[in-house]
Amino acid sequence: MSEYHESSMESKTSPVRDEALYEGIGREISSLFDGEDDWIANLANAAAVIYERLGYSWVGFYRAEGGSLVLGPFQGPAACVRIAPGKGVCGTAFSDDAVQVVPDVHAFPGHIACDARSNSEVVVPLHAGGKVWGVLDVDSHRPNDFSPTDVAGLKSLAKIIESALPS
Ligand code: SME
Repeated sequence: MSEYHESSMESKTSPVRDEALYEGIGREISSLFDGEDDWIANLANAAAVIYERLGYSWVGFYRAEGGSLVLGPFQGPAACVRIAPGKGVCGTAFSDDAVQVVPDVHAFPGHIACDARSNSEVVVPLHAGGKVWGVLDVDSHRPNDFSPTDVAGLKSLAKIIESALPS
C-alpha cells in the first residue's frame, strides 16, 4: 500500500510517487493490454490507471491526424480537441519529438490552458511505425510537480503504451 499525503492545492490526495509505484502501474497497464488489440480501449484504460494511481489533474492522449494533434482517450476535465504542430506544450513535443517537462506552464511560451488551474505539465511523444504517433500529456494543478522520478516513470509507461498503438 502506498503512503498518502494531503495536498494544500486541491482536495485530491497525492501518492508518494516512487519508482516502485511506476513499476506497479506498468505491470497493471501491461496486464490490461494483454490479449486486447483495440488501441482506443487500451489507451482509455492506460489513462484511467495513470490518473487514478498518480493523483495528477489530467492524463490523456493526443494522436497525430492530418499533421495536427487530435484529442484521444483521457481522464480529467474536458480538454482542447485540436492542437496545431508546434503549438503549446503538446504541439512542441510532437513537432520536436522531444519530451517536454514544464515546471511552470505560465512561463512556457504558447502554453494552451485547457484547464486554468494547471500549473505544471509533462508531455511524452509516442512512436509507432517509425513515426510520432501522438503524445501522452499529464497535467498537475501543483507547480513543479514532476520530479526526475516522475519523468523517468512516465517515459517508461510511454514505452509500454507504445506497444498498444496501431502501426
Ligand atoms: N496544455 C497543453 C494542452 C493540452 S491540455 O493540457 C489537456 C498544451 O499546452 O499543449
